[in-house]
Amino acid sequence: MSNAITRASGDGQARVLRRVQISSLATAVPSRVLTNSDLEKMVDTSDEWILKRTGIRERHIAGAGVATSDLAAEAARSAIGQARLTPSDIEFLVVGTITPDMCFPSTACLVQDKIGAGAAWGFDLGAACCGFTYALTTAVQMVATGAHEHALAIGADVMSRIIDYEDRTTCVIFGDGAGAVVVSPAEDPELGVIDFAHEVDGSGGQALWMPAGGSRLPASHETVDQRLHYVHQEGAAVFKFAVRKTAEISRRILERAGLRADDVDLFVSHQANRRIITAAADQLGLAEEKVVINIDRYGNTTGATIPLALADALADGRLKKGNLVLLASVGAGFTVGAVLLRWAY
Ligand code: COA
Repeated sequence: MSNAITRASGDGQARVLRRVQISSLATAVPSRVLTNSDLEKMVDTSDEWILKRTGIRERHIAGAGVATSDLAAEAARSAIGQARLTPSDIEFLVVGTITPDMCFPSTACLVQDKIGAGAAWGFDLGAACCGFTYALTTAVQMVATGAHEHALAIGADVMSRIIDYEDRTTCVIFGDGAGAVVVSPAEDPELGVIDFAHEVDGSGGQALWMPAGGSRLPASHETVDQRLHYVHQEGAAVFKFAVRKTAEISRRILERAGLRADDVDLFVSHQANRRIITAAADQLGLAEEKVVINIDRYGNTTGATIPLALADALADGRLKKGNLVLLASVGAGFTVGAVLLRWAY
């Protein structure tokens, strides 16, 4: 095989694999913006409370009839173009989402058809706010093993469809969006994905969940009356777990690579709450200027937060070729993930 060694996670055994890079990145958000002052008219809340407790000012909300595959396809098309590829070059796609258009067919199948990626196979991946890190790792492995040349990793969610806009503890947090990256063999073996680390802790399942709509509680008049098709969460428990695990997994992946927090150029964490990100960054000893925060403009878009944050960092010149980038996420499940990479373009 070709150009580098990627260390596979979990069993400590290095395997010879191709080094893989992110070749392009694109995002899509709906145009409609829901501000904190809009929410003040809907539930008993205030701009001041939301900003102080979460860091969010506004979020984007999909219009009627716009589904996850629409945003995902828009981001995917643009990412493929930026990588100077055509849809037929994509051999594999994975969509991290908890708001698929429908239970089946998968959003990946819908996106494959929409973008005309006739040679691609793929599937959806349910890791909630770890949707993007899990999808990225999955796509990277498909290319690293030599199974495929070009793959798409997508994180996309239309959270507004599963949020109860009468519940002030959740409706202020979430927004809609999508992000897609093309992953390909690394052009420069010094750049690209270095390592990944992922965990689940299923004992936290009921701290953040949508109780109905699956095989345990299928949709019925009762489940609708009881508002069980919406996100339910124990905010404080999720908050504590997220801070601890974001710091823990970040430390672990850095140590394994023989690197320190000082070596990181950019820390791009899942954007769930500004205070979660800054608390984890403080525990890691990361300087403020290395931490990307754009939750103020998008809220928590679940699978899309990390690509949206990377896109902002690229646009404002904070993310440059060669930078050591640490991605970290914690989500419902619980799921935990980190990916360490050197930005390749
Ligand atoms: N506006 C005004 N008051 C609100 C409110 C809102 N939108 N939401 C909650 N409150 C109130 C609560 O009712 C509570 O009032 P009480 O003291 O009279 O009971 C008070 O604010 C404090 O509530 P608490 O839940 O302790 O607030 P918090 O500081 O923990 O913030 C979250 C709540 C949800 C923002 C926070 O817990 C959080 O971000 N959790 C993690 C959520 C998350 O990241 N989810 C996705 C994970 S990937």
